[in-house]
Amino acid sequence: MEKILVIGCSGQIGSELTLELRKIYGNNNVIATDIRPAPVDIIGSGPFEILDVLDASKLQLILEHEKITQIYHLAAILSGNAEKRPLASWDINMRSLMNVLELARELKLKKIFWPSSIAVFGPSTPRMNTPQYTIMEPNTVYGISKLAGERWIEYYFNKYGVDTRSLRYPGLISYKTEAGGGTTDYAVEIFYEAIKYKKYQCFLGPDSALPMMFMPDAIKATIDVMESDASKLSLHSSYNVAGICFTPGILAGEIKKHIPEFEITYKPDFRQAIADSWPACIDDSVARKDWGLNYVYDLAGMTKEMLNEIGKKLAQ
Ligand code: NAD
Ligand code: SER
Repeated sequence: MEKILVIGCSGQIGSELTLELRKIYGNNNVIATDIRPAPVDIIGSGPFEILDVLDASKLQLILEHEKITQIYHLAAILSGNAEKRPLASWDINMRSLMNVLELARELKLKKIFWPSSIAVFGPSTPRMNTPQYTIMEPNTVYGISKLAGERWIEYYFNKYGVDTRSLRYPGLISYKTEAGGGTTDYAVEIFYEAIKYKKYQCFLGPDSALPMMFMPDAIKATIDVMESDASKLSLHSSYNVAGICFTPGILAGEIKKHIPEFEITYKPDFRQAIADSWPACIDDSVARKDWGLNYVYDLAGMTKEMLNEIGKKLAQ
């Protein structure tokens, strides 16, 4: 029987992934943890504990006491926030991963999921159709930590046989929990502002193309790669996943189809340089071939559902 530990369950991904995992593995077999309180539906549906993942002793205690077999390690400081506190963010992003990997090795856990990001690429990477294997010279502290993390998870797989699995998530778009301080957050904020005020001032310029993915597709891809037969996986660093590629201008045009009065203005800040260093769109053919990555949502489908769901949420 699988017993799963989610670290970072209160964040944008964790708040949805935890509930999906509970549907599959049973409520009591998915232990949710975070350094801050969890949403009520997580606390109400199964076990939750406060955990600072930098506290290796407490992490070990939970792993042993709960007889954990798999970890989804989602705690991190994202790109925008990491640039404000580079050393502290490096410490959290790297030390948390090393704690997880070391305990996975010692306790012989079955599988570890740890997300990487499009931030592993940098200004010298080809921006269009970015290949799985290419030049990687990230110039943000977040990107450097993700690239180092990819190297470490592959090292633990090769050296110690820890079954590490990972996706290079693009920007994730969702309506349940607010985004956690990244460069792609505009693509979440824009929906709230469009519904509330019919206008949005974007912190990226109109033509900043970035890969994005709607949360249901991201959750499915995450669970799919974790449930794949090990023999199908040709890599244990991290898979490119593309999602949908668009610019703030294109997204605003799509929102206008539903809210014709909507107006977008642009005031790029420090996150523009980060966006400029990341791919515009990504080649995810290795993930498609290895374990059958696919998506349900396109730009129109995602926009319609975001507006509907956020509209309902704000009306309450
Ligand atoms: P988030 O910021 O919304 O959530 C992270 C969670 O980790 C938060 O609830 C936070 O309280 C928790 N956390 C922070 N420090 C902790 C600590 N010391 N101990 C325990 N918990 C701690 O982030 P997210 O968007 O849910 O991202 C999850 C993972 O996916 C991260 O590794 C992130 O880099 C990666 N990722 C996210 C995106 C995206 O667009 N959301 C894209 C690419 C990669
Ligand atoms: N959405 C994330 C960020 O902008 C990408 O990893 O930081």
